Amino acid sequence: MINNNLESVTAFAPASSSNLSVGYDVLGVAFDCLGDEVTLTKNNENILRILQIESDKPLPMAVKKNTATFAMQKMLDELSIEQGFDVVIKKGIPLCSGLGGSAASSVAAVYALNHFLVTPLPIEKLAMFALQAEQLSSGTMHADNVVPCLWGELTLITSLTPLEVLTLPRPDIYLILVHPDTEIPTIEARQALSKTIDLNQHIRQSANLAGMIATLYDKGKSFSTFCQDIIIEPQRAHLLPGFYQVKQAALDAGAFSCSFSGAGPTLYALSNSQEQADNISQSMQESFMKHQLKSQSWIRNLNAVEGPRIIKER
Ligand code: HSE
Repeated sequence: MINNNLESVTAFAPASSSNLSVGYDVLGVAFDCLGDEVTLTKNNENILRILQIESDKPLPMAVKKNTATFAMQKMLDELSIEQGFDVVIKKGIPLCSGLGGSAASSVAAVYALNHFLVTPLPIEKLAMFALQAEQLSSGTMHADNVVPCLWGELTLITSLTPLEVLTLPRPDIYLILVHPDTEIPTIEARQALSKTIDLNQHIRQSANLAGMIATLYDKGKSFSTFCQDIIIEPQRAHLLPGFYQVKQAALDAGAFSCSFSGAGPTLYALSNSQEQADNISQSMQESFMKHQLKSQSWIRNLNAVEGPRIIKER
């Protein structure tokens, strides 16, 4: 049932960085330096429609093609809600950037819709609607953007169907995200991957994932030892000009890890101090410039990130 006293709700949902080198499709962390906003306003016509999208680049206005309204429609249908809504989407996350932009739009939409409900749904349920939208945009269902975005945490997805999530301890580590001014569609970055992997590579990668998670329960001590992707990164490096040079620039500046954020082209790096993070970010941006790529950069302590929130209501 919809709350009669609310007319309009705006929700913010954060960006997210997934994989973190060793956790392809299972590991992700919220990143609230940037995010998307979705405003829902009741209409009297019992229809769901997009009124406006504020974005640097065009996005689908059709309800069935936009991840925000696609997720909302699934939720409205499941709850048999006939109330119509006018939707305004403000994209704060660059498109096709590896920063979980499609997930943030659908999460902000279902989070705002949930706020209208007299009995709100738990986030596990909201995730299912947003995940269907993720499938729409990337061709396959993966939860490592939707889940950290909704939970506002460092998360491990232990099962997709049914959805099962572990919230991991967050280390006192700085996450640097550098976004070069280019796009890699997730669907293409996923198609670049082989469907099979070598057994020895699997053994090393799973040992790294296990080792990384184990260190989180020891305050992230020796976290750096395990942040190495031997499977996905080599298959995607060619998608981004200068990938290995920028990565080397990050490592030379003191990063203990650097790789693609999600499907890229954003790169993530990790460091132990704000000062070092500033240097790493600057070195990565300079290195991107050598490949004629301007970039934007953000830094956040993993301890500090937060999830979605309602920013306006009336
Ligand atoms: N885990 C996904 C991938 C994230 O790397 O393809 C996409 O944002």
